[in-house]
Amino acid sequence: MAAMDLNRMIQRLNDLIALDYDAVGAYEAAITRVDVESLRMSLRAFQQDHVRHIQDLSRVVTMLGGTPTQKPDLKGFLLKGFTAVTSMMGNEAALQAMRGNEVLTNRTYQMALSEDWSDEARRIIERNFSDEQRHLAFIEGALRNRIWEQTPVQP
Ligand SMILES: [Fe+2]
Repeated sequence: MAAMDLNRMIQRLNDLIALDYDAVGAYEAAITRVDVESLRMSLRAFQQDHVRHIQDLSRVVTMLGGTPTQKPDLKGFLLKGFTAVTSMMGNEAALQAMRGNEVLTNRTYQMALSEDWSDEARRIIERNFSDEQRHLAFIEGALRNRIWEQTPVQP
C-alpha cells in the first residue's frame, strides 16, 4: 500500500508531536499535585515516555524533509479535550484528570494508526500507542485501588 502524501505525513506527525508536548506539560502539573512518592515516580516515567515520543517522531519528520514542531499546541490544548490539572487538586483529582488526558492520547494514537504510514513512522507510532495503553492501564488501576490511601505519607 502506498504511503500517504509526504506533506500530509509531516503534518500528521507534527500534530502527534504537539499532543505529546501537551502531555508532558499535563504530567508536570500532575506531578506537583501528587504527594505519594511511588506514584510521582511512575508519573515521571510516563512523562519521560512522552519526551521520547517527541524525540522519535521529530527524527522521522526531519528524515522526511520536514521541520519538527518544537512547542505544545497551547491554543488547541482545551479544544483537544485535555483536562487542566489545577492547584486545587489532590492525588485523586489529579489522577482523574490524567486519566482523561490519557484517554485522549490513546484515542489519537489509535486513530493515527489507520493512516498509511511509511514503515519507520508506523513502527514508532505503534510503539508510542503501546506506551499510551500502559499509561492508561496504570492510572485506571491506581484510581481503582486508591493507592494514595494505602501508602503512608512521610512526615
Ligand atoms: Fe501517556
